[in-house]
Amino acid sequence: MNLPATKTAFSKINNLFYKSYLPNIIYSAIEVGVFDVLSNQALSCIDLSKEIETNEPITESLLEVLLAIEFLKEKDKRYSLTALANEYLTQTSELNQLGAVKSYIVNGGPFKNLTQALKGDIPEFDQNIWSTEKSIRGIEQGAKAGGIQRVLAFAKEIPEFKKATKMCDFAGNSGYYSFALMHENRKLHAHVYDLEIVCETANKIKKDEAGFDRISYHAFDVRAGDDFGSGYDLFFSSHYLYELGATNRLIDLLKKVNRSMKLGGLFISNHIAGKVNGDHRLTLAIVELMTRSMGFPTHCLPEKVLRKALSEAGFGKFRVKAPDERLASPTMLLSAIKIKEL
Ligand SMILES: C[S@@+](CC[C@H](N)C(=O)[O-])C[C@H]1O[C@@H](n2cnc3c(N)ncnc32)[C@H](O)[C@@H]1O
Repeated sequence: MNLPATKTAFSKINNLFYKSYLPNIIYSAIEVGVFDVLSNQALSCIDLSKEIETNEPITESLLEVLLAIEFLKEKDKRYSLTALANEYLTQTSELNQLGAVKSYIVNGGPFKNLTQALKGDIPEFDQNIWSTEKSIRGIEQGAKAGGIQRVLAFAKEIPEFKKATKMCDFAGNSGYYSFALMHENRKLHAHVYDLEIVCETANKIKKDEAGFDRISYHAFDVRAGDDFGSGYDLFFSSHYLYELGATNRLIDLLKKVNRSMKLGGLFISNHIAGKVNGDHRLTLAIVELMTRSMGFPTHCLPEKVLRKALSEAGFGKFRVKAPDERLASPTMLLSAIKIKEL
């Protein structure tokens, strides 16, 4: 896959679209009582959640959204209303505009059940949301808006990438990152590991693409502890490690990754790590709220967590590329070399 470089920033469009979710989010905050309870006091997230009887992790991500739009302010981890929210979003204010907010909410969309989720009725996360042909094609198209080009540019700068011949694309979906990396390194063969249903569809929709003779799809389920091969000199992981990072299972997985790789092999991670400003801060706060209210723990893998886990799993010689805010998904790229056999 040889993609043109992006000339403009898709994040400008993406950030606008995310703002369209705000009326539903703000209305849910009104419904569960965030503004009324904070109208005369500053509370920590834990105390607020207790008072309004909401799920704490989801409440925490809701507060991040409200901070990003300056409806709340925070000091010493205690939240209070800004003058704007106090005047227009509390029941007791004679000037409240709660009806106006309600008139903007839409039925459907990712936040249609946010109030229920805040109240503890959280769905079980569906790991098959990326499994239909439509979603597989959609996620690849999304990655073409700069994500694939950025990973490729990062990899090209690393000497170990040029020498690599066998890569694992862990939870790689239809392998669109692999195709781009194989185009750059003609000796490289890719092994994509993903759910069985994804592999079946990928085999079908990618069969005519250049490089298909150098890619193999392997059905596996991380949750079942399935094997993901061995002998890799390149291991690529993109947008999958969030849950493991949040539930203290990352080190064990990375130790398995270590054992699947050759000494001196290259590991590359492409994940959201936070650390963004302006409109991106709001977009990522909304993404996090959406993720938690879908029953998934987080959509963020902080650099500190990843580095520590990699170090404990026998990796070193880190290289980091900070998030590029021109991209809709401003990920941090981090590479490491396997420096120790376990
Ligand atoms: C957010 S997508 C990331 C896809 C690709 N790596 C990227 O960065 O665009 C998550 C991927 O994980 C796969 N996945 C979800 N649950 C899985 C599991 N239990 N075992 C293996 N793969 C899984 C999905 O099918 C999907 O391809």
